Amino acid sequence: MAKLVIHPGRKKGKIEKEIYGHFSEHLGRCIYEGLYVGENSEIPNTNGMRTDVVEALKEMKIPVLRWPGGCFADEYHWMDGIGPKETRKKMINTHWGGVVEDNSFGTHEFMELCRQLGCEVYINGNLGSGTVREMSEWVEYLTFEGVSPMAELRKANGHEEAWDVEFFGVGNENWGCGGNMNPEHYANEYRRYQTYVRDYKHGKRIKKIACGANVDDYEWTEGVMKTCFKHSLPFQHGFMDGLSLHYYTHPEGWEIKGSATDFDEKVWYKTLKKTLYMETLIKRHGAIMDKYDPDKNIGMIIDEWGTWFTCEPGTNPGFLYQQNTMRDALVAGINLNLFNKNCDRVKMANIAQLVNVLQSVILTEGEKMIKTPTYHVFNMYKYHQGSTLLDSSIETKEVGLEKEWMVPNLSESVSVDEEGTIHITVANLSVEEAFTIDTTIIDKKVESVTGEILVNEMRAKNTFEEPEAVHTVEFNKIELTDQGIKFEIPACSVIHIAIQ
Ligand code: AHR
Repeated sequence: MAKLVIHPGRKKGKIEKEIYGHFSEHLGRCIYEGLYVGENSEIPNTNGMRTDVVEALKEMKIPVLRWPGGCFADEYHWMDGIGPKETRKKMINTHWGGVVEDNSFGTHEFMELCRQLGCEVYINGNLGSGTVREMSEWVEYLTFEGVSPMAELRKANGHEEAWDVEFFGVGNENWGCGGNMNPEHYANEYRRYQTYVRDYKHGKRIKKIACGANVDDYEWTEGVMKTCFKHSLPFQHGFMDGLSLHYYTHPEGWEIKGSATDFDEKVWYKTLKKTLYMETLIKRHGAIMDKYDPDKNIGMIIDEWGTWFTCEPGTNPGFLYQQNTMRDALVAGINLNLFNKNCDRVKMANIAQLVNVLQSVILTEGEKMIKTPTYHVFNMYKYHQGSTLLDSSIETKEVGLEKEWMVPNLSESVSVDEEGTIHITVANLSVEEAFTIDTTIIDKKVESVTGEILVNEMRAKNTFEEPEAVHTVEFNKIELTDQGIKFEIPACSVIHIAIQ
């Protein structure tokens, strides 16, 4: 029996909806085929965006979308992606398969996609190979309402109104694909570039995100914080609003990675153990950020996370297409619980990537579309978006097969929404054992309770032949007790319980 204790009286801060954010890069079949099929496609679309995909993402309440990369961002020249499509420049996508990028999906198309999704915009600018002027003009093109060269150009290209841009990334992975810089060099470049990311719209401030570390590169975090941190004053903002962090889970390491679908129990636990390392990264990078920014005004922006396996046999290795199983569902459930629990510092997170690339929520094949197990976790957890984290703790025990790769059996987080409904999400990391969870909710009488669950065997997945093999079902075996509720969580599952 595991004890879960929830303190509704101890509110620990807002879970920003952006923690449930996503990332879409010009990589493989994410943009083309996955999101955008063009107006003339036989696949149902609105202004070129796939209707089925847009509907599914709206249901999941996608809050924010990052674009155009990734490594692609530091080679992307936005002016190549505006104006009549026939005249747009074609370029080589050097990072991802060396394929031709025809720029038919550019700024206007991305903003149209976000409009249809009803989500916020996170644009990643090009610091690695672009100029300060280019970045500055992109912001002007997007957001300036008055008379200026870029505003006129936007209007000439058919968009009278300026758009809103909520987040702007100044470079991506500049320690690697974004220019191979050292932290001090990047940090000084960042200071210069960000100066020209202007706030043109009255009352609408663009939040600026600096490129943060890869995994455990604490030196990078130190170097960038030291050079770029500046306190906000009443009439003057600091240099940055967020610092990113990238961490992927690959069970067998960067070189081998491992299959997305063909794995045993040992690899299951290894994958989950490596996922849990995210907590160490949040704490240790967070401690460096605390030194400069003890009030936590700068958000940790985990804008690339998720599983990265060996691509599916027979697919282009440069396209990073992988299947998605219950193991991915657990990886998502664990990470999202961790982000919730650290919402004092983690202000946004963007799983990589939205469709057909790495740990996707959606896979497509021609006109067919499937929701992955990861999709169902995001859909169950959506109630945490914008809610308030509650103090909670659970008793755990170690499960696993090998000493080095033992993991706690349970992961949880709890929030309360504006209507006063308490949302509990729990993941059971054990492949074979169910656990009874005796939940105490301090000073609260439970009036009603509902639940939903995603449960299946560890390798279960959805396929185009069997698209509903893994899906959520109602979870109603919940007993009301004197102190709260009691339920048994099955092995290899993720649940959401709502309490009033
Ligand atoms: O998501 C795939 C790639 O991973 C991104 O382009 C890059 O930023 C990271 O290395």
